Amino acid sequence: KEKAFIFDLDGVIVDTAKYHFLAWRNLANSLGFEFTEAHNELLKGVSRVESLEILLKIGNVELTDDEKQTLLVKKNTEYLQYVNKMTADEILPGINELLNFLDQNTIKYALGSASKNAPLILEKVGLLNRFTAIVDGNDVSKAKPDPEVFLIGAQKLNTKPEDCIVVEDAIAGVEAANAANMLSIGIGDAEVLKEADYILSNTTGFTKDFIQKILN
Ligand code: G6P
Ligand code: MG
Repeated sequence: KEKAFIFDLDGVIVDTAKYHFLAWRNLANSLGFEFTEAHNELLKGVSRVESLEILLKIGNVELTDDEKQTLLVKKNTEYLQYVNKMTADEILPGINELLNFLDQNTIKYALGSASKNAPLILEKVGLLNRFTAIVDGNDVSKAKPDPEVFLIGAQKLNTKPEDCIVVEDAIAGVEAANAANMLSIGIGDAEVLKEADYILSNTTGFTKDFIQKILN
């Protein structure tokens, strides 16, 4: 059976999760409350708009739509300052080797990200032309944990959902993959990502043995 991979971007291909965290934390602090790494887990994989809603709930802050709009621009402006400095050095360890392996074995792969900045980030790190398909925050109407982003990815790859393997670092992303009836590989804390079919503590876990195992 032909298998295909769908990769999340932030926290899987590149470590932009840390930049999202810095920008959200600064925003929270400017609103007068603390924002921890544990809080940040709730935002991973979640759209920008939805992330702000969660953050405001954490801080118990109520704002008008206009005020929210201003904060979304502020957050993204700070985030883009980090993104614009990115280079290929920020591709997470093991990912280049994994993509090379998939290319050599003619296994297709797509991007399935909630980020509207995905094309820019891929361009910065030199991966924009590697993916058979890119599905990002500009293409979806329902955010993870809704499976839409991955189902569109499967369609673009011309692969059945049950033959797709999703790589995710976010709880919402693992849930989306499971809801899409795809195999889920969680990257990160096994406690946090316990719903994933397989869990690797980081991207160096993509050994040839592991890849062979999940392909069979
Ligand atoms: C990814 C990240 C989230 C982020 C979302 C939207 O899924 O994990 O933390 O909020 O993309 O990203 P954007 O770049 O459009 O703000
Ligand atoms: Mg992610």
